[in-house]
Amino acid sequence: MSADTHKLWQRRFAGTSAKEVDVFNSSISFDYVLFEEDIIGSIAHAKMLGKQSIIPEEDAASIVEGLQGILKDLNNNSLAFDPNAEDIHMFIESELTERIGEAGKKLHTGRSRNDQVALDLRLYVKKKITEAKTQLLQFEEVIIAQAEQHVQTIMPGYTHLQIAQPVSFAHHLLAYGQMILRDITRLDEVISHTDVMPLGNGALAGTTYPLDRQYVAEQLGFKEVSANSLDGVSDRDFVIDATYALSMVMMHLSRLSEEIILWSSQEFHFVELDDAFATGSSIMPQKKNPDVAELVRGKTGRVYGNLQTLLAMMKGLPLAYNKDMQEDKEALFDSIRTVDIALSAMIPMIETMKVNSERMREAASKGFINATDCADYLTKKGVPFRDAYGVIGGLVKDCIDNNLTMEDVPLEKYQLLNPLFEEDVYEAIDLKNCMNKRNIEGGPAPDSVKVQLTRLKEEIERK
Ligand code: ARG
Repeated sequence: MSADTHKLWQRRFAGTSAKEVDVFNSSISFDYVLFEEDIIGSIAHAKMLGKQSIIPEEDAASIVEGLQGILKDLNNNSLAFDPNAEDIHMFIESELTERIGEAGKKLHTGRSRNDQVALDLRLYVKKKITEAKTQLLQFEEVIIAQAEQHVQTIMPGYTHLQIAQPVSFAHHLLAYGQMILRDITRLDEVISHTDVMPLGNGALAGTTYPLDRQYVAEQLGFKEVSANSLDGVSDRDFVIDATYALSMVMMHLSRLSEEIILWSSQEFHFVELDDAFATGSSIMPQKKNPDVAELVRGKTGRVYGNLQTLLAMMKGLPLAYNKDMQEDKEALFDSIRTVDIALSAMIPMIETMKVNSERMREAASKGFINATDCADYLTKKGVPFRDAYGVIGGLVKDCIDNNLTMEDVPLEKYQLLNPLFEEDVYEAIDLKNCMNKRNIEGGPAPDSVKVQLTRLKEEIERK
């Protein structure tokens, strides 16, 4: 049977649709991923139709049984998606009618594909965003585990990628811990925005059947039903919210990736990736490339692109449903898939990454990383900070000209600059002390970092 003679609306038309239009119009090649949500949603709808006596209870029971059979067969691959079907909704409905006959034709009572697709997509977003959240929680655990090993590991902190002030590797990693924590919160918000049940909105103007919307919402685990039928069928804010939240996840993963790429270069050599998470070169035998991190950074672009696609797709749509909205799926699915594979690769990569603490420490001892502390030393003795800053600026210039570090400068020289300098200046500019004295809340001192670790663990526990 050709797809044309099968069209539901064929009797309204004198002619058949062009083959090219069927291909162009069809979404089953990508929306088949919604099969489970479509079936679960239809089961809830059918039960409600039966309960409300809109269709006979026996028909509802037979629909439910038929749909359960389809779900089972799709899950164990004994039923294949029909590539000629218009979309997943049409495919399942026609498969149902083929299996159970007349009763199958009653499933779509009081429902439109417009509220149906909105429902499926909301169920799908809730499921997938919850999965992404689980992955982010795992990622937090890996970050925490690495950080716990490196509370005392001094590394250079940078601004402008120029050595700035000393931090610990734990402190640096926990910055990502905070980003991921915000991502988790953002995903929770997405789930909450998505938690609205649209069935009962019909095509756009609700329905004349006495549907029990609350009952459907309860069966499907939604916290509320949509408040306006026009909005309910044409709202894709939740898709955009999800894609935005996923863009933020990728942005954070990409920033970390960029650092990993730098850190695993010969010039930095702060970390070494496990062989399982690096690749070689086809020509240069010495190479060990951080491809995973580069791909995460690269794939961030497509996730941003998906967000842009959705914003642009929605901006000119009059109420209510328009077919443009079928374009929401590939963008959303691609973002979900990309974040999933990025996290799947990134989590074990960070978990197995070896940290070269000595190299970090060595890098931190360069670049006058303790210059601020030297100025603070004078300030704490009563010199206004701006004056102290000027004195140390001159000293740094002198050191650079003479190829010296701040530690190399003899006390007499310090005292020539300002008589308030005493022997304890060397203690004040000692790297470890520079870090340990920054024990302000949120700072890099081991004590502060331990508090950050405890709090982060508590936050994760609550999520
Ligand atoms: N495949 C369509 C989509 O993804 C389903 C909704 C179709 N509704 C319609 N009025 N043609 O948006």
